[in-house]
Amino acid sequence: MSIGIFYGSNTGATRLIAEQIKKALGLEATIHDIALTELAAFDDYTHVIIGTSTWGDGDLQDDWEEKFDDFRDVDFSGKTVAFFGLGDQELHGDYFLDGMALLHDTAVKNGAKVVGNGWSTDGYDFGDSEAIEDDAFVGLAIDEDNEEDLTQERVRKWVSGIKAKFE
Ligand SMILES: Cc1cc2nc3c(=O)[nH]c(=O)nc-3n(C[C@H](O)[C@H](O)[C@H](O)COP(=O)(O)O)c2cc1C
Repeated sequence: MSIGIFYGSNTGATRLIAEQIKKALGLEATIHDIALTELAAFDDYTHVIIGTSTWGDGDLQDDWEEKFDDFRDVDFSGKTVAFFGLGDQELHGDYFLDGMALLHDTAVKNGAKVVGNGWSTDGYDFGDSEAIEDDAFVGLAIDEDNEEDLTQERVRKWVSGIKAKFE
């Protein structure tokens, strides 16, 4: 099994979560900062974890934004893909985690088999989010600005769910 974790981060928050996810997985996994990574690197993995923060009003993190046109051409068929997103539900509550939705919807269009979705919105307090499907988040929802104290447990619980599906 090969696992690649791909993240984009402006101030380092999403990078830290990528590292926490790798640690919680306890499996061999390679972390890629999308700013420094060719999109062809997705070809190396059968299991992929993709993380982004959201900026502006519901926009992708800057490095993802820059590569988004090419990301639309990545073929995810045959791959198991999980998503995590960082956002601020208080200050940006009408666009909470919208960046995660952009990456998720694109990968699904391109054949991704999604795991780690159906993440409950219980315990979050936001106005609106594009990252909701069937009343739940399409991936792990992290808010380091307001609920940092809940992050470790959220990561642990989510990772144990995807790990079962990765094996
Ligand atoms: C100018 C600005 C705009 C933001 N816009 C959003 C937004 O639209 N939706 C959201 O959920 N979070 C938004 N955020 C919150 C960031 O996504 C959050 O702080 C995140 O942890 C940053 O992660 P990073 O350092 O890995 O990029 C915004 C933050 C800033 C400073």
